[in-house]
Amino acid sequence: MNHRGDAMSDKEEGPVPLLAARSLVKAYGRTPALRGASVALGAGEILAVTGASGSGKSTLLHLLSGIARPDEGAVTYDGQRLDRLPERRLTELRRTDFGVVFQFGQLIPELTAVDNVGLPLLLAGASRATARERAGEWLERFGVRGQEGLRPGELSGGQAQRVALARALVTGPRVVFADEPTGALDSLAGEQVMTALVHTAREAGTAVLLITHDAQVAAYADREVRLGDGLVLPAGVAA
Ligand SMILES: Nc1ncnc2c1ncn2[C@@H]1O[C@H](COP(=O)(O)OP(=O)(O)OP(=O)(O)O)[C@@H](O)[C@H]1O
Ligand SMILES: [Mg+2]
Repeated sequence: MNHRGDAMSDKEEGPVPLLAARSLVKAYGRTPALRGASVALGAGEILAVTGASGSGKSTLLHLLSGIARPDEGAVTYDGQRLDRLPERRLTELRRTDFGVVFQFGQLIPELTAVDNVGLPLLLAGASRATARERAGEWLERFGVRGQEGLRPGELSGGQAQRVALARALVTGPRVVFADEPTGALDSLAGEQVMTALVHTAREAGTAVLLITHDAQVAAYADREVRLGDGLVLPAGVAA
C-alpha cells in the first residue's frame, strides 16, 4: 500500500520509478509528436513501447534520454528533473548512466566495429587496449565477433544494429534506450539479440526502454505501453 501524500507516487503503484515522463508535449513546427504522454520505468524493468508509425515512440525516447527537451511536461530521472539540467550536466549524465541505440544510422563511419563499441570506454578514461578487449567481448555476446575490423559501411544492417547495441551496453549503463533494435534482423537473429539484451539487463539490473513494432520482441519485456497519436493508450484499446 502506498502512503498518501508521497509527492511522487500519487498515481503510481509501487515504488518511485527510476525514470518518469509526466504529460509530455512535443511538437516539431506544427506537427504534434507527443500530446501529453506519461510513462514510468522502474529500476531493472524492461518496458516495451509499441504503437503505429508516427505515434511518437522515437520522440518519447529522445525526451526520456535527454537528447531533446519537451515543450511541456516533466522528465524525472533518479529524483532530479532531467529536462531542466544544463546541457553540460545532461551530456555527462548521458555518458555515465544511459546507453542509447538509435533507430537510424549512428555508428561513426570512420571507425571499425570494435572501435565504435570501445569509444564510450575511451571517453570514460579506459586505455585503448582495455577498450578493445571489452568491446571484443561485447561483439561476441551479440554474435558479431568476426566483424571487429570492419567499418559501418562494410557491415550489413543487422550487424550494424548489433554493434550499436554492444556500444550502448559496454559502459554498464543504468538505463538502455533501444529504438527498434531488431528492426533490421531476421527472426532468428532478432531472438538472439533479444536474448542477449534481456540476459545482460537482468544480470546487471539495467532498466530497458525498448521500442518495437514486433509483438514477439515486445513479449520479452516485463510490461508494454502503447502509444497512439502522441498519447499513451489505455490498456485494452486497439492501436
Ligand atoms: N525532427 C522532426 N522534424 C519534424 N517532424 C518530426 C521530427 N521527428 C518526428 N517528427 C514527427 O513527429 C511525429 C512522431 O514521430 P516519431 O518519430 O516520434 O514517431 P515513431 O512512433 O517513432 O514512428 P516510427 O515507428 O515510424 O519510427 C511524426 O508525425 C513525425 O513526422
Ligand atoms: Mg521511430
